[in-house]
Amino acid sequence: MHPIPIVLDGDPGHDDAMAWLLAKSRSMLEILAVTTVAGNQTIEKTTYNALRICTLLGISAPVGKGAARPLAGVRMNAPSVHGESGLDGPTLPEPDREASPLSACELMAKVLRESPRPVTIVPTGPLTNVATLLLSHPELKEKIARISLMGGGIARGNWTPAAEFNILVDPEAAKIVFSSGVPITMAGLDVTEQALILPEDVEKIRRIENPVANIVWQWLDFFYGFHKKLGYAGAPMHDPCAVAWLIAPEIFEAKELYVEIETQGRYCRGMTAADLRGGAAPNVTALLGLDREKFVELLREAVEAYG
Ligand code: BDR
Ligand code: CA
Repeated sequence: MHPIPIVLDGDPGHDDAMAWLLAKSRSMLEILAVTTVAGNQTIEKTTYNALRICTLLGISAPVGKGAARPLAGVRMNAPSVHGESGLDGPTLPEPDREASPLSACELMAKVLRESPRPVTIVPTGPLTNVATLLLSHPELKEKIARISLMGGGIARGNWTPAAEFNILVDPEAAKIVFSSGVPITMAGLDVTEQALILPEDVEKIRRIENPVANIVWQWLDFFYGFHKKLGYAGAPMHDPCAVAWLIAPEIFEAKELYVEIETQGRYCRGMTAADLRGGAAPNVTALLGLDREKFVELLREAVEAYG
């Protein structure tokens, strides 16, 4: 069996880092490139974080610096969730390399062009880079096997009543991606808010005691700190769901749905509006539920793999 070639595109971010850790731990996934986008923090900060995460995890793929701002609208960051650095908490190793001279979009294009097999893109931040790729290299669409993304929410949002952060930051980009015709798996809040890592799970990870575990439990502790104040029982592992579905789709409940992105709207900009009547042809495999314990087991095994 060939590994699935993937590109990790994110705005790390504690849960992005956990997603990348999970991806790196599985030989069935081959990381061809890592690309960054502004979201949780500025592009300078998310790129620096991406390089530090890759150094920590031994991800040797090139890192391409991506979009500094959304296609339209104002720039937004999330320091309340991830801190001023975008990845507050434990001290990380300094990067063992520089970012690629290629931009995120051009690095993705190169990887798609050169890959003998179609590539799966895993966006865990705003969709600015992916939309830019689709607009600037339409001929490469055929080389994208699937986009397995974290974003949106069928039932509700988190940054507004209607919108989830990644989609809200760049709804115009999301609209381009969702209407592209490329197969999409959407790990939205419906599933990711169920993907909780509880304090007792964090304690088990702390006890693994390898160099990566020593960082990871502190990331999880920091991330939970924000969510605890909002009444969460654990830290929602949003972004790892987009990777976990590639590894173990059987632990998820999914539904084929037609989803469009609201780019206008006084109250609903950034909403992922799903046709629950089932009338329109589906464009999304929407993840709606998961076996939490099996999901946490995947994360724990991923940390153990660094022993
Ligand atoms: C998403 O927003 C970010 O803060 C997280 O990294 C995740 O990708 C959840 O709404
Ligand atoms: Ca993210």
